[in-house]
Amino acid sequence: MPPSPAPDAPLDVLLVGLGTIARTHAAVITRLDRLRLVGAVDPAPGFAVEAPAHRTLHEALDAGTDPDVVVLATPTDTHVGLVDEVLRTCDATVLCEKPLAATVDEIDGLELRHGAVVLTERVRVAHHFAFSPEVEWARRTAEQHPEWGPPTRVLCVSHDPYGHIEDDRAASLVSSWVDSGPNQLSVAAAFAGGWEVVSHVAETGRSVSVLDHAGGRTTLVTNWLAGDSSKQSEIEYGAGGVRIRIDHTSMTALVLRDGEVAEQLTYAGADSRKVEHYLGVYRALLDDPDDHRLGVPLARTIASLLEGRAPIG
Ligand SMILES: NC(=O)c1ccc[n+]([C@@H]2O[C@H](COP(=O)([O-])OP(=O)(O)OC[C@H]3O[C@@H](n4cnc5c(N)ncnc54)[C@H](O)[C@@H]3O)[C@@H](O)[C@H]2O)c1
Repeated sequence: MPPSPAPDAPLDVLLVGLGTIARTHAAVITRLDRLRLVGAVDPAPGFAVEAPAHRTLHEALDAGTDPDVVVLATPTDTHVGLVDEVLRTCDATVLCEKPLAATVDEIDGLELRHGAVVLTERVRVAHHFAFSPEVEWARRTAEQHPEWGPPTRVLCVSHDPYGHIEDDRAASLVSSWVDSGPNQLSVAAAFAGGWEVVSHVAETGRSVSVLDHAGGRTTLVTNWLAGDSSKQSEIEYGAGGVRIRIDHTSMTALVLRDGEVAEQLTYAGADSRKVEHYLGVYRALLDDPDDHRLGVPLARTIASLLEGRAPIG
């Protein structure tokens, strides 16, 4: 839980990594009165912020930066090492970009070194897709209809046009599965659980993962050969009598009942998709830090499924 220095005082945030997604973090931190950016860290920053800048986390802390929250917006393979360093060298809560780790062993290592209590109290993961307005709406809609039962099918599809990107951008990508799988799994987890892996095929730019969930089947498809980014999910109940069709790209959704439109979510806001996601992440961090969508258990489930195996326990 983020430590509160004094009632109503903003939480001091140190932003580590000033690349693509850090722009969204910086915009949202600046927008929320209850957060104050007190420093940034990046050896090769992609943009500047209105706060002291440092080359390393060690240098920032050495210079007297005393954050309440350290945000890690660095490449995936740096996450565990930087979480380790924050937990060892200061008292701050860590908000780490997703995935916390691509393997369960790495999360087990963190737990071994720092203890489960420290992880529960101080480590949060920005599973940002789970906070998108269309997923929230769809989850609430399904909750209002317990008579639908568990979903019989969950399908998440993510396309990104990464077939021909520059080398410097490619360096921050791992694979379509490791980069998009955590988003799909955090969406799927809003509707289903109790995963068993049926089959899993993952190449660098393409993956198909089939999981059984309690009451049905989840299929996750990722692909980097596409004309544009496009992300959708479909949640089916019964024998297809009810379908929730979610368009993550436009932040809209439809409920179809026997093929007819029964309910519709439109988006009238002016924020970008990522700003909407991270407003949700930071509001939960401030108001409900124990929200399971930010928790290490979800990160562990995701790491396990990223490895193509069912979660243990
Ligand atoms: N790009 C997206 O749209 C997006 C969306 C959501 C989540 N994410 C996640 O965010 C993370 C970062 O992705 P990105 O696309 O912003 O990458 P990026 O390559 O654009 O930015 C990463 C930045 O981190 C810096 N960096 C590297 N090692 C560092 C270190 N040890 N200390 C400080 N800074 C360091 C790099 O210099 C770079 O500026 C990834 O884990 C990714 O999965 C990305």
